[in-house]
Amino acid sequence: MDNRTEKALSDLLTSKKYADICPDTVKNAFFEQTKRHGKLKDADKAARAHLHAITGAFISPDELKNAKKALSEWMAGDEDAFVRAMLYHSSTRERVQIAEKLYARAFSACEELKTILDLACGINPIFLGKMGYTNVLGLDIHAGCAQLINECAQFFKWNTRAKAQDLILNPPEEEADITLMMKLLPVLETQKTGAAKALLENIKSRYMLVTFPTQTLGGKKVGMERHYTEWFEEKIPETHKVIDRFVIGNELAYTLERK
Ligand SMILES: C[S@@+](CC[C@H](N)C(=O)[O-])C[C@H]1O[C@@H](n2cnc3c(N)ncnc32)[C@H](O)[C@@H]1O
Repeated sequence: MDNRTEKALSDLLTSKKYADICPDTVKNAFFEQTKRHGKLKDADKAARAHLHAITGAFISPDELKNAKKALSEWMAGDEDAFVRAMLYHSSTRERVQIAEKLYARAFSACEELKTILDLACGINPIFLGKMGYTNVLGLDIHAGCAQLINECAQFFKWNTRAKAQDLILNPPEEEADITLMMKLLPVLETQKTGAAKALLENIKSRYMLVTFPTQTLGGKKVGMERHYTEWFEEKIPETHKVIDRFVIGNELAYTLERK
């Protein structure tokens, strides 16, 4: 690697926006783009755009800071601060009004769920903890989100833990009664063609909960329910069958069980 390339990569790794992301994810995005772009400047720009699309778009450094503040207020006894904190990540923001209904419906189709593996979890394990699901392992490329989850878990004495992990570069090995893949698979597929199917085929849990957005981050309805229905149903692994499918709010959900 020449000095200019080394400096560009180091700047990206330590930038305010991406310092909290798994270094392997950042390096991989950077090197992929240097293969595609002749000019270093263009590769750097494309790597930043890619990282924004797969993680930065869902929670910015300022939103993370605000979420941390709201969670500290919640831990200090301000009950309203919990919802405020959930509003700082786009996925929990979109789900905040419907989360209890969504989980009640999805989990009612399953027998006893003691352990949950939440893949690309964002800050969702905090929501699960608040609802009484306190035995969760969350994995996400965003170490800042993992830290918030671990701080809450420690404070409330939950068994929940989170760690920074790239699900493509380092596929999960953990077992749990149910694996959650909420609003994840399309994001994964943009990183590597075939990644969604490969992940699904690697899941060891008896149950899976897989969800999709039915509108864009900007709030547009553009036929996403139908699109993701067709896209997902041909990727369902032979080991599992759909035991429930429903739409709540702007989220399409599938509950699957091992055959
Ligand atoms: C749309 S958000 C969904 C968050 C959470 N599952 C929820 O529904 O509340 C997508 C999440 O995927 C994470 N992510 C993207 N690519 C990933 C990868 N390769 N490995 C692990 N996490 C990833 C992002 O950081 C982001 O938190």
